[in-house]
Amino acid sequence: MSEVGAMAVNSESNAQSVTEVDDSRRKFLTFATGATAAVGAVLAAVPFVESWFPSERARALGAPVEVDLSKMEVGQLITPVWRTQVIYVVRRPLDLVAKLKQNDERLKDPDSKESIQPDYARNEMRSRNAEYLVLIGYCTHLGCLPKAFFEPGGVLGADWPGGFRCPCHGSRFDLAGRVFDGSPAPTNLVVPPYSYSNPTTLVIGSNNGSAQENG
Ligand code: FES
Repeated sequence: MSEVGAMAVNSESNAQSVTEVDDSRRKFLTFATGATAAVGAVLAAVPFVESWFPSERARALGAPVEVDLSKMEVGQLITPVWRTQVIYVVRRPLDLVAKLKQNDERLKDPDSKESIQPDYARNEMRSRNAEYLVLIGYCTHLGCLPKAFFEPGGVLGADWPGGFRCPCHGSRFDLAGRVFDGSPAPTNLVVPPYSYSNPTTLVIGSNNGSAQENG
């Protein structure tokens, strides 16, 4: 074989070996890429699969909240938190509950037809029980926290029957959370689902306990 011929063969054989190397490298890369993708898919799937199951914290955030009413005084407001929302629980003076009907003509939605509450709270008291009012504590205008003005009269005028006034734009609500005419808030304060696990324990977020209707 001439030198030129030998070089040609060598260069052919080099080309072949380069091709073989390239082929095997490509196979490796293909395998490696596939393997990486598979591992990546598994790793990506782990948090995804985990996200199917709510964490303890998420479960706790959505769980009903028990509130001890046994130490509440008449006229007192307490503010437990349920699902990150401030809840207003008021132990109302029964003499003021008896006068709620007198507010009807001054209210936007006296029968709560346009407002949000469970069916058992679509009544004049907007509650299961005359004594305890349970509301989500955010004004239905832009979400401020209304302040308690439970004493009739006083700084809100002689005809003030007791209730709440929102500090942001002045919406007024009676002791059933019903909004007065002239307020920017369009509807009554929202009533969350609730029940009682015993006569002095309120369960916010559950309809399943005792109703204590009109107790
Ligand atoms: S947020 Fe309450 S009146 Fe505007």
